[in-house]
Amino acid sequence: MSDLFSPFTLKSVTLRNRIAVPPMCQYSAVDGLVNDWHLAHYTGLARGGAGLVIVEATGVSPEGRITPACLGLWNDDQARGLAGIAAAIKSGGAVPGIQIGHAGRKASANRPWEGDDHIAEGDSRGWPTLSPSAVPFGKQLSKTPKAMTTDDIARVQADFVAAAVRARDAGFEWLELHFAHGYLAQSFFSIHANQRDDAYGGDAVRRGRFLLDTLRAVREVWPQHLPLTARFGVIEFDGRDEETLTEAIALVRAMRESGLDLLNVSVGFSTPEAQVPWGPAFLAPIAERVRREAGLAVASSWGIDTPTLADGVIRAEQMDLVMVGRAMLANPHWPYQTALALKRERPSWVLPAPYAHWLERYQPAQG
Ligand SMILES: Cc1cc2nc3c(=O)[nH]c(=O)nc-3n(C[C@H](O)[C@H](O)[C@H](O)COP(=O)(O)O)c2cc1C
Repeated sequence: MSDLFSPFTLKSVTLRNRIAVPPMCQYSAVDGLVNDWHLAHYTGLARGGAGLVIVEATGVSPEGRITPACLGLWNDDQARGLAGIAAAIKSGGAVPGIQIGHAGRKASANRPWEGDDHIAEGDSRGWPTLSPSAVPFGKQLSKTPKAMTTDDIARVQADFVAAAVRARDAGFEWLELHFAHGYLAQSFFSIHANQRDDAYGGDAVRRGRFLLDTLRAVREVWPQHLPLTARFGVIEFDGRDEETLTEAIALVRAMRESGLDLLNVSVGFSTPEAQVPWGPAFLAPIAERVRREAGLAVASSWGIDTPTLADGVIRAEQMDLVMVGRAMLANPHWPYQTALALKRERPSWVLPAPYAHWLERYQPAQG
C-alpha cells in the first residue's frame, strides 16, 4: 500500500514522495518576467522536501494573464527566466512543473490584495477579455468579454502549443494545462459561460471540444516520456452537480485517451452563485470518483493540510498525489515536519544534504 512518502512514478518522472505544491500565483511579476521573489519562493518550496513543485498560472499570451503581475511564457526572455526557476526547483530535489493557462473572462483583474476585481475601463493597465460567449462572470468581475471567433480559438490554441514548447525547452518536466477555475478552458465547458451554438457549444461533447483539441495539440509537442496533466473543475456546486460530474468524467476519459497522464481535480468556479462546501479534504471523495470512473491518476487539493489527512487520502487510494498549497506557504518545510509527525524514521524523501545531514536525527523539543 502506498503512503504519503512512497515515491510516485509517472512516465519517466519519479517524485520522491506524494506531496506536490500546486500552482499558486505570486502576482509579483512585471511584463510576465520572473524576478528574485520567484526564485527565492520556488527554491524554498523545493528545498522543503515536496516531490513536485508546480509554478503558478503562467499566461500563454499577454491577454491570458489573470492580472498584469502574473507570469507569462509568450517570449524567449520569459522562458530564460523560467529556465532558472526550473533548475532551482530541480536542484532542491523536486520535479519542476509549470501550469500554463489563459484567464478568459476573469483576466485583466487587480491583484487579490488590491481588490480582486476587474481593472476599471479606461485604466491603461487593463485589456479587453475573451470568452466563448459575451457573458460576464458577474459580481466584482463584471467586464463583458468578447465572444471568440474560430480564428481567436485557433490563435489561443497555438499560444498554448508555443508556451508548451518554451516550457519543455526551459527544462520543465511536468506540464499542467489550466482548464479550471472559471478561466478560458473551464468557460468553454461551463453552461454558465458558454452559450455558443457552433461546434464549441451546446452539448457536453461540443463544450469539451476546446479542451480536448488544446490537449491534443499540446501532446504533439510535449515529450511523450514526460507527464502531461491538466487541472479541471469537475463540479461547480451550482445545484446540477451530478450532471456536471457525469459530463466532466466523460470528458476526462476522452482526455486520457488523447494522452492526458493525470488530472488535478478541482472546482469549476464558473459562477459567483456557487455554494462550495468548504471543509477539510472536501474534494477527496470527488477525486476518488474521477480516479475510479475515468481510470486515470489524480491529484487534488483544498484543505488537505494535516499529516493525517494527507497520508490518509493516499492510503485510502482517493488520490495518487496530494497538492498542499497554503500550508506550504506558511511553512515550506511542511513535508519534513509531516514526516516527523508521522514518525517515519528514515523517510524515503530526501532533503538536500546541507539540511538533511543535520535534520535526519534531530528531534525538535515539543511544547
Ligand atoms: C496564493 C494562491 C495562489 C493561487 N494560484 C493558483 C494558480 O495559479 N493556479 C491554480 O490552479 N490554483 C491556484 N490557487 C489554488 C491552489 O492551487 C490550491 O488549490 C488552493 O490553495 C487549495 O489548496 P490548499 O487548501 O492546500 O491551500 C492559488 C491559491 C493561493 C492560496
